[in-house]
Amino acid sequence: MTTENSRSEFEGPVKSPFTPKQVEDLRSWLTHYPYPMMGLLEAMRRVQEWRRCVTREDEAFLAQLFQTTPTHIHEVATFYPHFTAEPAGRHRVGLCRGVSCRLKGSEEMARYLEQKLGVKDGGTTPDGKVGFETMECLGACDCAPALQVDDELQGEATRKAVDGLVSRLIRD
Ligand code: FES
Repeated sequence: MTTENSRSEFEGPVKSPFTPKQVEDLRSWLTHYPYPMMGLLEAMRRVQEWRRCVTREDEAFLAQLFQTTPTHIHEVATFYPHFTAEPAGRHRVGLCRGVSCRLKGSEEMARYLEQKLGVKDGGTTPDGKVGFETMECLGACDCAPALQVDDELQGEATRKAVDGLVSRLIRD
């Protein structure tokens, strides 16, 4: 059964919040894979890269482009931690909070990172340079507690590694 709500989600053209070149890029994901919907995640990754977040306005436009509902896009955006509703830091530091990493001191290391960066878990430095978040298993349990920066695994989070990393990111 179609409800008033779901019907209205498809109605009317949504004004693009993107540049024509960006729209062209997003459109290219419709034909990149055998089925248009297979390109959705890549298109959303582009939006996250450009704007450092995926807003509700972006979701509405993507829904129109991929011929789905804004609710569907929002579900995808909130399922994957990669997508953020608010602008993420230019660099994103992730520390694993999975069981293996907790056993190897990730909670203590998270407090250390918060102290070094001056932000809480999920926060971004006031200059927008660095965001910090704890994450589920990064698939690198052999180097627990695992640390990553911008989707790139950095290895074991020791105080020394964190010190070096933070000063590099702050300087960048
Ligand atoms: S539990 Fe931390 S990488 Fe697997």
